[in-house]
Amino acid sequence: MIGASRNPQKIGHQVLRNLIEGGFPKERVFPINPHAEEILGLKCYPSVKDVPGDVDLAVICVPAPLVMNVVKDCAEKGVKALAVITAGFGEVGNVEAERQLVEFARSHGMRLLGPNIVGICDTVNSMNASFCQALPPKGDIAFITQSGALAIALVGWTIEERIGLSDLVSVGNKADVDDADLLEFFSHDPHTKAIAMYIEGIEDGRRFIETAKKASKLKPIVAIKAGRSRRGAAAAASHTGSLAGMDAIYDAAFKECGIIRAYTFDQLFDWCIALASQPLPKKRGTVIITNGGGAGVMATDACEDWDVELMDIPEDLAEKFRKYMPPFGSTRNPIDLTGMATREKYEGATEEAFRDPRVGSVIVLYCHTAITDPMDVADGIISVVEKLKPDKPITVSFIGGKETAEASDKLREHKIPCYPTPERAVAAMSALYKRAKYLGVLAES
Ligand code: COA
Repeated sequence: MIGASRNPQKIGHQVLRNLIEGGFPKERVFPINPHAEEILGLKCYPSVKDVPGDVDLAVICVPAPLVMNVVKDCAEKGVKALAVITAGFGEVGNVEAERQLVEFARSHGMRLLGPNIVGICDTVNSMNASFCQALPPKGDIAFITQSGALAIALVGWTIEERIGLSDLVSVGNKADVDDADLLEFFSHDPHTKAIAMYIEGIEDGRRFIETAKKASKLKPIVAIKAGRSRRGAAAAASHTGSLAGMDAIYDAAFKECGIIRAYTFDQLFDWCIALASQPLPKKRGTVIITNGGGAGVMATDACEDWDVELMDIPEDLAEKFRKYMPPFGSTRNPIDLTGMATREKYEGATEEAFRDPRVGSVIVLYCHTAITDPMDVADGIISVVEKLKPDKPITVSFIGGKETAEASDKLREHKIPCYPTPERAVAAMSALYKRAKYLGVLAES
């Protein structure tokens, strides 16, 4: 940690604190500061060259004019990886200094992440080498972001929403390590099941497309490409110096590489959660099971918006569903179990849908009522999924705010993607269909 500061207000202090408090072994963290003896109980070294043993990663947090010198020390020490938090390079027109830095690093066998980054949060190794407030929860989504501030904000959100990440990497100016390098890495990373990206601009489009094509064969990739509007593109240019380019070109490129494009953070993570946890649908024909007519109608509209095809329920299947509803229920898709539906009814209807080979996928909706316990319904859905281990996807929506929050969390803990609105459950299902189509596993009728 080069530029570890004694001053708790400084970024270099916070990064060191995060490394220690995030759970990374203390004995493997070495603060570097020529003016200090000890910081946060760790012995300080005047230079990286004084650190005993090999150094895997140098996190650099000294002011821009000092960066080149500390990078030279890193080269002498034989460090291979640099994460440069320091701002004040290409993004403010200091292009030449950035170019020299990268040239020096590369010619000395080092790779450089940044500059102008918030850092790296690696939950697999409990390494919070960033000034994000905490590590995100452990999970299987890798998040690559060109915006550091958004990374910080979203860490709080991932904690709140219990969205598990394997890694969060802030790429900043992407002077050396870029999206393509990280896609290549995460597509082979055993801890990552889906990759989320926030992109403002891509410099080497050809390499990005080639790498993303290979990566998306191995792992689902969902990306936000910001700076869509004319003014948005201008804002991206002054933020990270990115050429946001024509939006239509990005759109076409993403389609070609199988990257699913999201437009909001909800979508980005909603879809990654589904893609990381669910089997892909092999056929069209979705069944919606609900206890609320209105939620069913909303979901039906959303299916049309998101190109999720509802199944026409054959009479023999309708007969099976009838066992789980009063006479005034409906077996026309959405299957309306009515507001009286209990855990057993949900369990039974969901099991029928999973067992029927004509059904491609299942969406379950629950509207909170005074006579049902959402946790009970969640347990019912979990027990069916765990019993059948279905080879078709399910997405769920529990609607009811605070009252259903715990049940939603429990579903997610059991790898069943649950969302607060029917539209989000449908949109997540649509992402699964998009991927199935891209990989050619979807039988089109
Ligand atoms: N090696 C190691 N440490 C050194 C050093 C050297 N050669 N020379 C000085 N230091 C020490 C300083 O003494 C200081 O420690 P101290 O507070 O205990 O005295 C520490 O390094 C930091 O240096 P300082 O000059 O106080 O810098 P700073 O903390 O004000 O700013 C940055 C450094 C990197 C945080 C700042 O330049 C910067 O880039 N900020 C923006 C970062 C950012 O926004 N990144 C993008 C996020 S999206």
